[in-house]
Amino acid sequence: MASSSSNIFSFVGFIMMLWSGSLYANGCYTSIISFGDSIADTGNVKHLGSITNEAFPSLFPPYGQTFFHEPTGRCSDGRLIIDFLAESLELPFIPPYMHEGSANMEKFKHGVNFAVAGSTAMNSQHLAAEGIQNAATNASLEVELQWFKHSLPLISGNALDRRNYIGQSLILMGEIGGNDYNIPMRDNKSIEDMELFVPLVVNTIALAINELIEMGAQTLVVPGNFPIGCSPAHLTVMQGSEDEEYDPTTGCLVRLNQFAEYHNQMLQTKLNQIREFHPDVNIIYADYYNAAMQFYRFPNKFGFTNGALKACCGGGGLYNYNSTVTCGHESATVCDEPDRYVSWDGVHLTEAAYKVIFKGLFQGPYTTPAYSSLCPASSQMRVGLSSSS
Ligand SMILES: *[C@@H]1O[C@H](CO)[C@@H](O)[C@H](O)[C@H]1NC(C)=O
Ligand SMILES: *[C@@H]1O[C@H](CO)[C@@H](O)[C@H](O)[C@H]1NC(C)=O
Ligand SMILES: *[C@@H]1O[C@H](CO)[C@@H](O)[C@H](O)[C@H]1NC(C)=O
Repeated sequence: MASSSSNIFSFVGFIMMLWSGSLYANGCYTSIISFGDSIADTGNVKHLGSITNEAFPSLFPPYGQTFFHEPTGRCSDGRLIIDFLAESLELPFIPPYMHEGSANMEKFKHGVNFAVAGSTAMNSQHLAAEGIQNAATNASLEVELQWFKHSLPLISGNALDRRNYIGQSLILMGEIGGNDYNIPMRDNKSIEDMELFVPLVVNTIALAINELIEMGAQTLVVPGNFPIGCSPAHLTVMQGSEDEEYDPTTGCLVRLNQFAEYHNQMLQTKLNQIREFHPDVNIIYADYYNAAMQFYRFPNKFGFTNGALKACCGGGGLYNYNSTVTCGHESATVCDEPDRYVSWDGVHLTEAAYKVIFKGLFQGPYTTPAYSSLCPASSQMRVGLSSSS
């Protein structure tokens, strides 16, 4: 999709980076700006005082044990998709906007992450209008965008510099919206009820994208929803009584996966509309659903020898998920080899599973248009990923 002139510019940029001896740059994107929920939160949850510890076990061991060797606020045993993306661009891990010490330009030079665990796409007033209350956090896409606008003066005092910073950033818009469905599902809303929320969620995401484009965004990666019917938490809580409610090849709940695909279809239709208005902007759909279906269909192929539906860390039961004894609870147990599991805590995935998704997206076929056609240098990958199978 990139025009030849922008290829020339990125090539010139690449050479200039070499000259300047920069450690962090591959000529594609000089920073990552991220919005979303627990799938991308690299630590905001840790610094938001209002959150109760019980609701966010990710602040406690065994979270973080595999890679960071301490809880960072990431909802996994190790790195997330955004961390692998940062490594592939030779950028440092993207710092959370909420962090210790005062914010400054140096800190956010290579990007900033606004994603908050528990966050929804719709804001709390819109959720309330639908009879939904998010007990975990008031953060929403709108709130995260406000934080972004507040942070811009820290990035530069000059409006043109700020616009360039945004234009040269890879903007990761999600995953967001999953909690807009998870919360009502937990409150026993029917899937038919939730289908009515889908246009509201998709429109909220589209508004944020349009706003970022007006601010100068040139490249946005917009993820869809996961196959939520394969999540140990949903498999436990929404247990079906009939065999035909389960996909015979994966064991996942058919209806929930169809719902996720319904959201993804509507999101892609909306992205096509935005592309028509902004043909000069790269809007990349990231197909988290099918990237993840790779290992739900063939877990052994990816080393997930314990099957794909049982959590590594949890309170027991068929899927090792119990909503009253979740990972981090004193009665929960953690598996010896998380890299043989897809699910970390019944809701979030292991570092090993996120790595497979990362590769499928950013080096494989699961983005539209292909990310590798826009950023060939990093898609050949070197950092961090070559070390493991
Ligand atoms: C959300 O906002 C309301 C009203 O400002 C406040 O009372 C509540 O404590 C907030 N909740 C969280 C989890 O931050
Ligand atoms: C949802 O349904 C379950 C099982 O029927 C019940 O135990 C739970 O209290 C319900 N939750 C709400 C919020 O109604
Ligand atoms: C979940 O754990 C609690 C506390 O140990 C236990 O009472 C309950 O039976 C468990 N639920 C299931 C479905 O196993």
